[in-house]
Amino acid sequence: MCGIVGYIGEKQAAPILIEGLRRLEYRGYDSAGIAVSGQKVTVIKEKGRIDNLKAEIDRVYPVGTVGIGHTRWATHGIPDRSNAHPHSSMNGIVTLVHNGIIENYIEIKNELAEKGYVFKSETDTEVIAQLFDSLFNGNAVETMIKTAARLEGSYAVAMLVKGFSDKVFTMKKDNPMIIGAGDGEYFIASDIPAILPYTKDCYIVKDNDFVELRKDGITVYGIDGEEKAADINSINMSVDAAQKNGYDYFMEKEIYEQPKAFHDTVSPLIKDGSITLPFEFPKGFIKNLSRIHIVACGSAYHVGMTAKYIIEDMARIPVIVDIASEFRYRNPILNENDLCIFVSQSGETADTLASLRESKARGAFTMSIVNVLYSTIARESDGVIYTNAGAEIAVATTKALMAQLGVCYILAAFLAHEKGLMGDDILRNFTEEVLTVPEKIKKALCSSDNTKEIARHIKDRQSMFFIGRGIDYPLCLEGSLKLKEISYIHSEGYGAGELKHGTISLIENGTAVVAIGTDDALLGKMISNIKEVRARGAYVIAIVKEGTKGIEEVADKVIYVPCASRYLMPSITVVPLQLLAYHTTVLKGFDVDKPRNLAKSVTVE
Ligand code: M6R
Repeated sequence: MCGIVGYIGEKQAAPILIEGLRRLEYRGYDSAGIAVSGQKVTVIKEKGRIDNLKAEIDRVYPVGTVGIGHTRWATHGIPDRSNAHPHSSMNGIVTLVHNGIIENYIEIKNELAEKGYVFKSETDTEVIAQLFDSLFNGNAVETMIKTAARLEGSYAVAMLVKGFSDKVFTMKKDNPMIIGAGDGEYFIASDIPAILPYTKDCYIVKDNDFVELRKDGITVYGIDGEEKAADINSINMSVDAAQKNGYDYFMEKEIYEQPKAFHDTVSPLIKDGSITLPFEFPKGFIKNLSRIHIVACGSAYHVGMTAKYIIEDMARIPVIVDIASEFRYRNPILNENDLCIFVSQSGETADTLASLRESKARGAFTMSIVNVLYSTIARESDGVIYTNAGAEIAVATTKALMAQLGVCYILAAFLAHEKGLMGDDILRNFTEEVLTVPEKIKKALCSSDNTKEIARHIKDRQSMFFIGRGIDYPLCLEGSLKLKEISYIHSEGYGAGELKHGTISLIENGTAVVAIGTDDALLGKMISNIKEVRARGAYVIAIVKEGTKGIEEVADKVIYVPCASRYLMPSITVVPLQLLAYHTTVLKGFDVDKPRNLAKSVTVE
């Protein structure tokens, strides 16, 4: 949530900051601002998108080779100019940008107000600036450490400090921050894509690091004020991944990248028909494994629900799936025989990270399925499987989810094999079939024209339902989330059998219902459910496997998808759901990549 950039070097800072903010705009887009340090610190900020800020920067043209910038997703205070970052302290000692939430900001604000500090915004961020100002002793690093000691909550902060016009300072806790090392220049960013055009050499800032950046180097201090080693790693990510490459939207590009995302994720895990995970479980762990907990948010939670169907069926291990914001506060029962799996594209989602820490503290073995390299969830898990989907920019996730599904298939088969429930030959057949999925995803992408046509029929509807059974049910939740997230059409996902326990009363003439029926064993029941809603006037769009008989008689529109074995169907079925949401949103004229009120990485709870 929110994006931070910073620059120090020989070049003019403002164009670099703007370019970096554009690359991070998916993290928040309520307002944006920069501060450039030259003869003096010039702060420019504007409500709305980066283009508004760019226009103002072109008018003012702040001169200076040191600066910080921010694109905001509002938490404290409405999205307007006064609440936009950067914020300066009353005495002009510090100007800073911040991601995260300071939980005790009211208490600190009241204290500072008593000392005469006057606040200009409603933000928790301004409290950090004023606190730093009140504690300033002439040494910026010492003052950062003292400031951090008073803060409760999460933060990644970049700051310009009076008297240090040739330096930028940063500190962080529970929010990502990366420093890019160039030739005679350094960059700061809350996410890697912002600095990729300049350098791939990065220092991943750790919690309670306090960093001083100069154009010729960085010094990292620990919470004790002692200098620490700063290991610079080369990041394996291409600039290309953060470009639209001819597509109208990132979401469209990312939908079409799914065959590759799936392939690049699963193929390193499969060797000669067997499975090798990139980490080892403790000796004897799988034999004694009593329960699996899968914890995640949003679409990643839907992946967890899908994995439950597959793991329980294949490996006969009970799986409990939780929304992270509930799991962390529900006093979960965990022990050393439990495996806790955390699924996250960003690897920074606040509730998922807190759930991981809670599970570790309770003695469970933790593993994560994460897309962003070096992210906090990846680093803190006992084992991690990376989804090699590449940078995902659109707020609505597509290719990361596809890659997460791939990992779940592999993990389910691995566990079944380890438990002796799946022989070598069956495992070989299964892994061979997994490797054919990318071709089937490609074929499913050919349904784009059909879904675009269907999108014309649904774009003006007020409300929709997605119904399905078995392994199709989590996809109903995903299809519904995708549609409402970007097209703003209200929709709900339901287990088809649950509809008559209340929800069917909402079906009336013209209500659109997407009915997913890819499980042969449950198709007959799905057809009955379709007839029930149709009898009440619903406009039914069915998604079924190629060759399914009798569906055109009961549905208004049919989308056929390629066949695969039951466990693998989610990767194929999800494609038309994504395309439906995408085309509907384009037809409605909304910004597909940046839906209102949302941000890509949810680093606050
Ligand atoms: O980065 P994460 O995978 O942890 O994010 C979880 C959710 O916020 C995310 O999947 C969200 O639901 C997507 N915007 C859905 O498209």
